[in-house]
Amino acid sequence: MKQTNYETAAAQLAALTEGIPYETANLANASALLWQEMEGINWVGFYKMTDGALILGPFQGKPACIRIPVGRGVCGTAVAEDAIQLVYNVHDFPGHIACDSASNSEIVLPIHKNGEIWGVLDIDSPEIGRFTEYDKVGLEKIVEVLEKRL
Ligand code: SME
Repeated sequence: MKQTNYETAAAQLAALTEGIPYETANLANASALLWQEMEGINWVGFYKMTDGALILGPFQGKPACIRIPVGRGVCGTAVAEDAIQLVYNVHDFPGHIACDSASNSEIVLPIHKNGEIWGVLDIDSPEIGRFTEYDKVGLEKIVEVLEKRL
């Protein structure tokens, strides 16, 4: 599998979203860009904190769960702990929410705005152990760009 060049992807995202004050447009383009640049994934998208829970935002992949309470699943845990969740095998993660039964590994990164959690970037893969430290570090660069645009 070809590794994603996250430096290039982050630069592309910065260019795509520069001067665009529309959150949905920027998130939609971000999910499309990651979908295009990452191999071996079956879902990539955003959940935004709304009315105290994570609500589905722009994404690529199959239709997904709409509302995830804080503390539930991989996404809700990322928010509750304010920490990146790199899950080697989702079937070993207590409370994992299976939106697409094809998913076997997952990475979730919290996204911040004004010092608070805005929501998360969630990426799923049908391959066990698809996401590594390389992806974690690279995706942190992507989130850094997005945090400047929200
Ligand atoms: N698996 C996630 C739910 C969201 S879907 O993967 C798109 C979770 O456990 O939080």
